[in-house]
Amino acid sequence: MKSKWLDSDWNPTNMVGTFSYDKLFSRDSADTPLNPVAHAKYDFAVAYPAPETLPMDGLIQALQTAVDSNSEKVLAEMAYYPQQLGAIELREYTVQKLVTDRGFSVTSEELALTNGSGEALGLVIQALTNPGDIVLAEEFVYMGTTNQLRRFGADIRGVAIDDGGIIPEALEKQIIDLNSAGDKPKYLYTIPEHQNPTGSTLSEQRRRAILDIAHKYGMPILEDDCYVDLRYKGETQPAFRALDDSGIVVYVASYSKLLAPGLRLGYFTCSPDLMRRALSFKIGSGPNQFAAVAIEGFLKNNLDLHRDNFNPILEAKCNSMVDALEEHFHNSGAVWSAPQGGCYVWLTMPEDADIASIRDEVFDQGVGYVAGPNFEADGSGRIGKNCARLCFAFESVEKNSEGIALLAQLFKQHGVM
Ligand SMILES: Cc1ncc(COP(=O)(O)O)c(C=O)c1O
Repeated sequence: MKSKWLDSDWNPTNMVGTFSYDKLFSRDSADTPLNPVAHAKYDFAVAYPAPETLPMDGLIQALQTAVDSNSEKVLAEMAYYPQQLGAIELREYTVQKLVTDRGFSVTSEELALTNGSGEALGLVIQALTNPGDIVLAEEFVYMGTTNQLRRFGADIRGVAIDDGGIIPEALEKQIIDLNSAGDKPKYLYTIPEHQNPTGSTLSEQRRRAILDIAHKYGMPILEDDCYVDLRYKGETQPAFRALDDSGIVVYVASYSKLLAPGLRLGYFTCSPDLMRRALSFKIGSGPNQFAAVAIEGFLKNNLDLHRDNFNPILEAKCNSMVDALEEHFHNSGAVWSAPQGGCYVWLTMPEDADIASIRDEVFDQGVGYVAGPNFEADGSGRIGKNCARLCFAFESVEKNSEGIALLAQLFKQHGVM
């Protein structure tokens, strides 16, 4: 019998794209657009730290040193799957870093390394969220997390914020209102340091007030400390986790912004019972061992030097963007945040200026930004259309100035300024 593989009529190259999955997709799958790779000439839409600060040589050197000093050990680690919590050396280093930088102490068994902090957030969200659960978050908040929350059915409600982040009184009132309607928030997600997108930092006083509320209403806090290393001005505030070791705080952070997102290394720590539940959703083993060895080797000798190098660069970039906003937007009725770190300036135009609907055209004309509605916690599209997140970290000082000048010109051309 002639095999179909040999049949001259059967030509797989003619069949590309003809197989249909239409009836095969799982119920929970969704058609997800692939990440666009397009960059505007002035790209303020990204969420990257300053690319020129990536310590490539240092990371390679650290890897080489680790291999040279104990090649058998490193090779053995590479040859096996990493344990679920991730490389022990990087966990031990991270535990020490948390003591020094964030003022709280956990054991290396209470800390899990993850494939970026996005994975950590996803694991915790899956461990805590049933469809319909109410989750509170800053009314403008990082969409990577709200996307994950929605995927697992959370009903996200935005909490009122001002320049100093979540307003504790507003938070408590919201919980009371929910309670009187027979509802109860399951947990609070917050980015207390250099918030994404608004750039705000919660004071210690507010953190303490929010912790009191959390205890009063039995509501855990999912603390996302992704930007804590990126401070060039003012005082770092104590982590929620440093102010409370009852287990009500879940602490998540990342090496993405300190070093590079491409390394894909984040981490989290929480109470052991929640950790076990969260890890039950983890597919496969701990994160990339190669990256873990390089990060640990580099940071144990260079953390302060590295921070001292990149934070002034960030500051100069932030200043150039803020100065340009001052110069080109000062009579427009717009206001913008004055970050002390992180990567973002939050621009708020007058209420009737719909800068969300012109975003694509402005992008094609040379300036990229992320429009406010993308960050609305409740996804209602009610409050963000006159707002935008501008990343100051990625482009150069010069391009930040030029790009903001062009943005003002384009806003005028589109009649929103
Ligand atoms: C607030 C916040 N949390 C978490 C992440 C996820 O970062 P990663 O998965 O690279 O650690 C980001 C990325 O932009 C972020 O802005």
